Amino acid sequence: MWTSTPRAATNKVIRRLTTLCHGAMGMPAQVIDCGRIAAQVKAELKDRVLKLHMSGNAPGLAVVLVGDDPASKVYVNMKAKECRELGINSKQQNLPATITEDELLRNLDYLQADPKVHGLLVQMPLPDHISETKVMERIDPDKDVDGFNPINVGRMLMGAPGMLPCTPHGIQQLLVRSGNTPEGKHVVIVGRSNIVGKPMAAILVQKAAGANATVTVCHSATKDLASLTRQADVLIAAMGRPQFIKADMVNEGAVVVDVGMNRVEDAKSEKGYRLVGDADFEAVSRKAKAITPVPGGVGLMTRAMLMVNTVRAAEVAVEKAQARRR
Ligand code: GUN
Repeated sequence: MWTSTPRAATNKVIRRLTTLCHGAMGMPAQVIDCGRIAAQVKAELKDRVLKLHMSGNAPGLAVVLVGDDPASKVYVNMKAKECRELGINSKQQNLPATITEDELLRNLDYLQADPKVHGLLVQMPLPDHISETKVMERIDPDKDVDGFNPINVGRMLMGAPGMLPCTPHGIQQLLVRSGNTPEGKHVVIVGRSNIVGKPMAAILVQKAAGANATVTVCHSATKDLASLTRQADVLIAAMGRPQFIKADMVNEGAVVVDVGMNRVEDAKSEKGYRLVGDADFEAVSRKAKAITPVPGGVGLMTRAMLMVNTVRAAEVAVEKAQARRR
């Protein structure tokens, strides 16, 4: 006699087969289209930017670059370009690496006293003689578009509204918008930086839509790292080591998010180097279900979320000014 299989059980078998196909049959991973998703996030801002302009409150971002690290220069220029494309005013201040900590802090006070500056960020890393913590503490939480000020970090941990750090918030958006929600999944993060690893864990562990994950954070002192990365439904590689995550460290059918951006020597390239992520893309993409590319991956989302935070900061400034007038 035929018995009907419950739909949930059938779906489970189909999901399992699809997952197995990715590794065993060498089916290439879906390369997550970060450009499309970043463009979607920015398109959603256009009306809000227009409304701010119409009310005489054009959103403004100030970016401070200390020293002349070539990678930081590139990032800062790309942030300015995003602003131009969206109609956000931006100004950039380039300061010498010899600036003292005190001079830099006073400079931040001066910049953020300007009501036209709704968002302020200092590009990291900073020279060794300047405390990143002191810099993050000095930025007004309402203008802290990086989400690095301890007030915003605390709000994020509590799941309260505030500015979220751009890279981890962008990764959450990538996962959700690409149909790979982290809800109920085991997310393994490799790397515990204040910019990516730690806030990523804080965001995904929240009891909230688009989060609700079980999170493991691994780092340089983790024993038998591969045994943990192999348990990941979603693996986030954010330790800054070129092509460190190999195929045998990845579960078949996992979603891999590569936050790395490393220069490796390449005599065949005109520049003498090429950019690679923290995962070995070729090998890992034969095993994963989906993977983000490098370059053209997470970095696009970081900048899109910076635009989101800047627009939000301008809106909050307008709301607060209106409340004061009431
Ligand atoms: N350096 C690397 N990532 C970031 C970032 O998201 N913000 C700042 N300010 N510096 C960085």
